[in-house]
Amino acid sequence: MRGGTDAAALPRHVAIIMDGNGRWARQRGLPRVEGHRMGIRAVRAVVECARELGIPYLTLYAFSVENWGRPENEVTTLMTLLREFLLKELPELIRHRIRLNVIGEAEKLPAYVREVLDRTLSVTAGHTEMTLTLALSYAGRSEILRAAKKLAEEAARGRIAAEKLTEDDIAARLDTAGMPDPDLVIRTSGELRVSNFLLWQTAYSEFVFTDVLWPDFGKAEFLLALDEYSRRHRRFGLTEEQAEPPSGGIS
Ligand code: FPP
Repeated sequence: MRGGTDAAALPRHVAIIMDGNGRWARQRGLPRVEGHRMGIRAVRAVVECARELGIPYLTLYAFSVENWGRPENEVTTLMTLLREFLLKELPELIRHRIRLNVIGEAEKLPAYVREVLDRTLSVTAGHTEMTLTLALSYAGRSEILRAAKKLAEEAARGRIAAEKLTEDDIAARLDTAGMPDPDLVIRTSGELRVSNFLLWQTAYSEFVFTDVLWPDFGKAEFLLALDEYSRRHRRFGLTEEQAEPPSGGIS
């Protein structure tokens, strides 16, 4: 069988822009928050599937810096759902040896979320099977800006020479330091945008866009996206021959 379950063609890191919860709810005459509630079900399905397949890194765009501007009741619901999710999923994370990780400005989250988040991060810190990263209060440009500030500070203290800076020096100061770049980014709901997600890290990622709204995204849709990924030829700026020599290396 070709595609998603072929281990050689599996991405090491999948990142997902979970979009369309609001539209899913509106189509059913429900309040937007019901879309988010159903979105959690999709989160569970995808985490489970990634773990079963042996994908070591899964990153979910759960709350952007821009999302703070949404109506207060929606922000509160998202925070409450996040807290419930963490509380409920901790036994599963332990059972499947999944490490939880966060990127973004988690310190901006309300204390009732931070508390559970910190506990989950520390309880799962030693897990090595898979890393589930939640992007929370995250924005790609602000992440790059924070990294630039760190470098400027280090340069000002004489710890690093500006003229010797490398791309690795920047990557090491991003929230994703130590993680591989995403091989595959999936965005649901038919929107064809990056929306300030992992701007540095997606330089050579493959993108799969689907019209499916996030609450309807499940194992079948995830496998379809992986199958599409497995049929792409990644060239990283090289020629086809260089990227995939006749001897048959996988790029
Ligand atoms: C986008 O849909 C989705 C979000 C802003 C939040 C995603 C959150 C969840 C799936 C639930 C919480 C997540 C975790 C990991 C516990 P939208 O509201 O922008 O939809 P629309 O574009 O149709 O309005």
